[in-house]
Amino acid sequence: MSRSGKDPGVRVKTARKRTQSSTKWLQRQLNDPYVKAAKAQGWRSRAAFKLIELDDKFGLVKQSRRVVDLGIAPGGWSQVVRQRSPMARVVGIDLLPTDPIEGVTIFQMDFMADEAPAALAGALDGAPDLVISDMAANTVGHKQTDHLRTMGLVETAADFAIEHLAPGGAFVAKVLAGGTDADLLALLKQHFTTVKHAKPPASRKDSSEWYVIAQGFKGAA
Ligand SMILES: C[S@@+](CC[C@H](N)C(=O)[O-])C[C@H]1O[C@@H](n2cnc3c(N)ncnc32)[C@H](O)[C@@H]1O
Repeated sequence: MSRSGKDPGVRVKTARKRTQSSTKWLQRQLNDPYVKAAKAQGWRSRAAFKLIELDDKFGLVKQSRRVVDLGIAPGGWSQVVRQRSPMARVVGIDLLPTDPIEGVTIFQMDFMADEAPAALAGALDGAPDLVISDMAANTVGHKQTDHLRTMGLVETAADFAIEHLAPGGAFVAKVLAGGTDADLLALLKQHFTTVKHAKPPASRKDSSEWYVIAQGFKGAA
């Protein structure tokens, strides 16, 4: 406790080799209640709470039997899917390795690679009813470039969802500030009955991320 009576939380000393921003990141991680809760509850990422909160609000996971998890690593979202819908078959993809999760087929592959869509679709025994994407491009620090790269991933994810979802299915994806851009929004509105944006409480306030939630897929044109 400090003299003011407030708990100052964990303070991290700036080690010689640690940059100021990584010290700040570490300090924030150590004091983040979602990081602590994720550890205590066995979730692999604090991101798990974002899907939990989106699912509580929009009812996405329970009725899903075939799920595609884009940007799966380290696996928090797939853990949530398997816990809330134990019969669901899940297939996930990430550039990074992901430790195995029961009931989940994992590809370590670039989602933008030509062979990725077929690999994902082929791993399920039918059309998915839920496609979730938490993919974000590695940031280079140039705001517009970062925005365009992440939106490129979202657009490809939306195309994948529209091509593969079963009628009635849903698509959830991380988008950046400003929400979904006009073309993508128009495309989603054309193919889904409802399209909404949400920022779950677990999403850090200083982060520009939002989520688009498209439900009621109308079926292939
Ligand atoms: C925020 S993390 C996902 C966290 C995950 N939802 C969880 O709960 O554990 C975003 C992931 O997207 C992945 N990613 C970014 N670009 C990708 C791409 N082109 N193909 C596959 N994965 C990608 C990153 O490697 C990263 O692991």
